[in-house]
Amino acid sequence: MVEITLVHGDITEQRVDAIVNAANPSLMGGGGVDGAIHRRGGPAILEECKEIRRREEYREGLPTGQAVATTAGELPARWVIHTVGPVYSEREDRSDLLASCYREALRVADELGARTVAFPAISTGVYRWPLESAARIAIDTVRRADTRVHEVRFVLFGQDAYDTFARVLAETRPD
Ligand code: APR
Repeated sequence: MVEITLVHGDITEQRVDAIVNAANPSLMGGGGVDGAIHRRGGPAILEECKEIRRREEYREGLPTGQAVATTAGELPARWVIHTVGPVYSEREDRSDLLASCYREALRVADELGARTVAFPAISTGVYRWPLESAARIAIDTVRRADTRVHEVRFVLFGQDAYDTFARVLAETRPD
């Protein structure tokens, strides 16, 4: 079973095999965690993202809920796994797409042979997903995942995000 840990901090500083990026379909960078990863990781990450975009299947961009890996450039991790979370919608339930980000990122981590993986709270920033709901989906999906990853570390940037993940983790801990 995967061990789930929580950290209040910056994902670009994590010494893990792979960190996950909350990207957008272009894979060309952005704000939030995406901006921080490209800024701190240097140009090698963007170069590899451009390579990925040249592949036939990603000509239109990385679809929401899917994941791909690049080097981590100058970051302490070995790889960055880029995934695209759904934009939150009140009219449509997109929970499956958010769950898919976690599942697909772990599938890519298994392909790489990564054993420790750090995730941000995908979709909870620019994409406006409510924290409590995002935390439930993230924790539930990781708990159910069939993976060889030993540790999933959620790296929460704000106090509010950390407190919400800690509460949901405690409330839903299996006996
Ligand atoms: N480390 C960890 N978490 C971070 C960091 C960081 N360095 N910077 C921001 N966060 C947190 C935010 O506080 C938020 O809780 O990551 C969570 C996700 O927020 P965003 O980065 O805005 O990601 P998301 O909501 O999925 O939106 C994706 O943002 O910049 C763009 O290119 C990205 O268009 C895409 C969109």
